[in-house]
Amino acid sequence: MLNGKKLIVGITGSIAAYKSALLVRELVRAGAEVKVIMTHAAKDFITPLTLSTLSKNPVLYQFNDNADSGEWNNHVELGLWADALIIAPLSANTMAKMCSGVCDNLLMATYLSAKCVTFVAPAMDLDMYKHGTTGENIDKLKSLGVQVISPTSGELASGLSGKGRMEEPENIKAFLDSYYRRDLPLTGKKALVSAGPTYEDVDPVRFIGNRSSGKMGFAIAEELANQGAEVTLVAGPVHLSLSNTSINRVDVRTAKEMKESCLNHNGEADIIIMAAAVADYTPAEVAEQKIKKKDEDWSIPLVRTTDILAKMGELKKKDQLLVGFALETNNEASNAQGKLERKNLDFIVLNSLRDAGAGFAHDTNKITIIDRDNNHDDYKLKSKPEVAADVVQKVIEMMNR
Ligand code: CTP
Repeated sequence: MLNGKKLIVGITGSIAAYKSALLVRELVRAGAEVKVIMTHAAKDFITPLTLSTLSKNPVLYQFNDNADSGEWNNHVELGLWADALIIAPLSANTMAKMCSGVCDNLLMATYLSAKCVTFVAPAMDLDMYKHGTTGENIDKLKSLGVQVISPTSGELASGLSGKGRMEEPENIKAFLDSYYRRDLPLTGKKALVSAGPTYEDVDPVRFIGNRSSGKMGFAIAEELANQGAEVTLVAGPVHLSLSNTSINRVDVRTAKEMKESCLNHNGEADIIIMAAAVADYTPAEVAEQKIKKKDEDWSIPLVRTTDILAKMGELKKKDQLLVGFALETNNEASNAQGKLERKNLDFIVLNSLRDAGAGFAHDTNKITIIDRDNNHDDYKLKSKPEVAADVVQKVIEMMNR
């Protein structure tokens, strides 16, 4: 959810400022662009060098480094640039300033001029947190629309034990994730996606595989997650990485491993999209030692693998949406229609190898979606992420029927 987001992390004077370094690192890892604004007091607890290194941006703490330039108003630009302002830790002092509109540093000026959402993670000692004024200030911030990430209980720097510890960086990140997820069409839905090829071992050095890159399945997993779903991606052997770090990726090698992993997750899934190019046959036996060549020809006995998609169709629960792929070379529509019915699918994504730019070997695809009501929708040749967006739109449309 944070991928590509522009975030300002504000750091104020509190011992919890050391945790801000971890927060910045988490946000950058999640794909966010991060700029840090520190108050002068914050610099007593953690160095700007640490934060500029982790955020990959200069740390800001005064109105303008170049006072002669006349560019005094960078708080306005920062406020417009940001998708969110996250003040963590928020000291009692800055909290009080936010409530009364005091504007005596760059962070406060940015807060007052920002049009984006503000998150705060208060941190203070137990008695300061319990003080009536703090309670009133927190209520005031909430009434102003500020998202307050409550402190947790535990040992405090003073030696006291109780509420006041800043929430842990990974939980602050999780809070931000769920904030951005809240209004998305697939929020609350679980999805299972298969992607890539499978490799069926012949012996310790040889296997039978196929040319699937996994790009289509990965793009679908990313798009489902971007639309709010909690995604498990079962991936065969591919050279791909995910930008959405919320996706639960399970790496497998063989058709058997893929089946087992999919069966582990299908019960809880609301949406199942099987985009993997699963081997239909596997060697009857895997030799323990490398098979030596001989003068005569060699044939390998193969046995059928389980059709995972068909299995999901048998096990399909009411309200589960099941989607399959068909890669055809002839009689495309009728073959795909047959698979849709045999495998009990809600819709099937058909690509024909007769279309230039479609199939395994390309970064593009040209699809037709055929649904259980026999609607056929032809799409233009598009990039795989755009095709994934079309497939996921069809999922959303069918779930809302
Ligand atoms: N599929 C699967 N498990 C298998 C084989 C296929 O889950 N063992 C899924 C694929 O992920 C895809 C769809 O089934 O969604 C493809 O079905 P199908 O076209 O039947 O696979 P092919 O092996 O290509 O069938 P055929 O050779 O008969 O065209």
